[in-house]
Amino acid sequence: MEHIAVVTGAARGIGLAITHALLKDELTVVGVDVNEAGLSATAEKLTADGASFVPKLADLADPTQVARIFAEIEETFGGVDALVNNAGTCFVNDFVDISPDELQRQMAINFDSTFYCCQRAIPLMLRRPGIKKIVNISSNGAYNFDVFDPAHYRASKAAVDNMTKHLARRYAKENIVVNSIAPAMTRTDLFDVVEPEVLARAIAEMPQGKPMEPEEVAAWVAFLVSAAGNCASGNVIILNQGRDVR
Ligand SMILES: NC(=O)c1ccc[n+]([C@@H]2O[C@H](COP(=O)([O-])OP(=O)(O)OC[C@H]3O[C@@H](n4cnc5c(N)ncnc54)[C@H](O)[C@@H]3O)[C@@H](O)[C@H]2O)c1
Repeated sequence: MEHIAVVTGAARGIGLAITHALLKDELTVVGVDVNEAGLSATAEKLTADGASFVPKLADLADPTQVARIFAEIEETFGGVDALVNNAGTCFVNDFVDISPDELQRQMAINFDSTFYCCQRAIPLMLRRPGIKKIVNISSNGAYNFDVFDPAHYRASKAAVDNMTKHLARRYAKENIVVNSIAPAMTRTDLFDVVEPEVLARAIAEMPQGKPMEPEEVAAWVAFLVSAAGNCASGNVIILNQGRDVR
């Protein structure tokens, strides 16, 4: 049977690496992104290589657009076997400078999008056989207070992890397992939002003296999506080279 994985934020960075990893494991990947040019460039490359990749353009902070893409997925595939909520961003204003609009936007992109995608994917998972998988990409920023991260970004990821635990308990008997992966500094274009000296300091704090790579995070997602992940649910898996061990 064709296994369907939905990966959000698939156009670049960690989401693109996750897409590659799941395609390698022979899942069909529905890749969702708000970046039209990035998504079509990614889709062009992947489909030229013969990959089973279906691009969907949507702003996942908008519940109407989330509903639309999951209706299309239902029509095309009938169900969903795995959902990876990876789309996200980080606004970097200092606490007193965060406007109400920026606070709302940060929560909407990182938390609301995950909430809406879970709401729409779960009914499509309930009709599939076997153990279905939700993997939420959180952040070390929700747990580590030595390295700079803005308050609203930390809170958005902490909210995601709380929902991971809620859904893990709520759907345990329905064979849906739900986990978060919380990476530290991972080399992507998102690094550009941080001032160079702040970035250099954060990288210097990584025990291996270098950032993590998107493929390292993707390998953990693929592990959870594989049969090996069937017995794990409700976890927040911290990936940070051991930075926070005291
Ligand atoms: N890079 C890191 O160091 C790091 C560390 C911890 C957590 N994370 C998390 O990992 C995830 C991926 O980050 P990344 O570093 O690959 O960032 P990135 O900016 O390279 O990629 C994020 C992707 O998500 C898409 N996206 C953003 N908002 C969207 C929306 N509203 N609707 C649909 N798509 C949207 C973007 O267009 C982009 O393609 C994010 O949730 C981020 O918070 C990253």
